[in-house]
Parts: sequence; C-alpha cells; structure tokens
Amino acid sequence: MRNWYYSKYHVGVKALISHEEESFELIQSAISLQKPHLIVEFGSAYYGLTLLMHEVDPSTPLITFDRIDPTESIRRTKGFIKSTDEIKELRRVGFNSNVRFYVESILGEEPNKVVVEFLSTPCTKFVYMDNGNKVREVNTYAKYLREGDVLGVHDWGPEINYEREGIKESLIEFKPHPLNLFFEDRNLVTRMFVRT
Ligand SMILES: C[S@@+](CC[C@H](N)C(=O)[O-])C[C@H]1O[C@@H](n2cnc3c(N)ncnc32)[C@H](O)[C@@H]1O
Repeated sequence: MRNWYYSKYHVGVKALISHEEESFELIQSAISLQKPHLIVEFGSAYYGLTLLMHEVDPSTPLITFDRIDPTESIRRTKGFIKSTDEIKELRRVGFNSNVRFYVESILGEEPNKVVVEFLSTPCTKFVYMDNGNKVREVNTYAKYLREGDVLGVHDWGPEINYEREGIKESLIEFKPHPLNLFFEDRNLVTRMFVRT
C-alpha cells in the first residue's frame, strides 16, 4: 500500500510512505515513549517513514539505508512521485543535518560494517527494518541491539513471523512491544520488539 505522510512542520511537504495510515501515530508514539538517541532505518525508499520518524523529534540523529538513491532514479511512479527534483526538494526542506542518508546495501555477504558500527554504539536505539528481505535483516542485525533498544519490522505475518527460519532464535532476547496489541487489533503489519 502507498500513502502520503504529510509533514507536521512544513506546509505542503509530503513524502510517499509504504505503510498503513493507521500505523503512523503508533510508530511515532513508540519513538516518543522510548526517546531513542539514534534512529536507524533499513529501506529509505522515498523517505516517507524517514520523515515520519524524523519529525517525532528532529533533534534525534537518524540514519537511513537504501541500496538505491531516489534522488538519482525513480523506480515506481504510479502517480505518486513526479521527479527526482521533487525528492531532492523533500530532502532539502523536510530534513535537517541530524539525518544521514546512506546509499548502500545492508545485505551483502557480510553484515554491513557501517550498520554494525552504529548498532553496536552504546546508546538507546530505535531500529526499523523494512527492506526487501526482513527475515535476513532481523537474522543478521538483531544480535547487535542492546538492552532497551527497540526493533521494529514491517510486513509481520505475510513476510516475517516466528515460524520463519531463525526468527524465534533471533528474537529470543526481545519481548513484544506493548503497542503490538494495537497493531494486531487493527490488522496492521508493523510489530516491535524490545531488547531485554
Ligand atoms: C518497502 S521499501 C521501504 C518503504 C519505506 N519503509 C516506507 O514505508 O516508505 C523497501 C526498500 O528497501 C530497499 N532495499 C531492498 N534491498 C535492500 C538492501 N539489500 N539494502 C538496502 N536497501 C534495500 C529497496 O530499494 C526499497 O527502497
């Protein structure tokens, strides 16, 4: 599904997001409650979720990774996106210098060194995983999170769940986030887990 996330701070600024509208507030609430020192996103796409997470508190550092740079090429127009210039403008207006955009794969043969370095940093992190292979993402990176960190994942159910290979083991030291009850109740496919 595709929706627009409308900026809370910049009139007329909006970004394409692949999340259900009902989940916007819940994801922002999870970040507000946790007050992380660092937000990490896998799968920037067109920066919809990036902007949503950034706007919870624009002073929080946020790093986002995608193997494709949307300011260089637009892959899926479908009436939502007009040009790479528009994306450049969104980046210029919607984000401040606390946000860093990495164009690199996070799923090579080895774990991505930049990602591992950030995830190993001793600070409270909110990590949201939503690229092309959630099972691999969780199995590769969940182990780097520390007590109090939150791991969020999209497409829980259809693409990733406890039955998928390695997931139960990767999440053994995590407990379900209290907001999962709301995601479940509303048939939303985001789930979050708190590292114990
Ligand atoms: C479903 S989209 C993310 C949507 C975004 N979270 C949102 O809600 O707007 C998945 C993104 O992951 C990126 N991606 C896929 N495989 C990747 C990889 N190995 N490393 C980094 N990014 C990857 C794709 O290019 C795509 O932009």
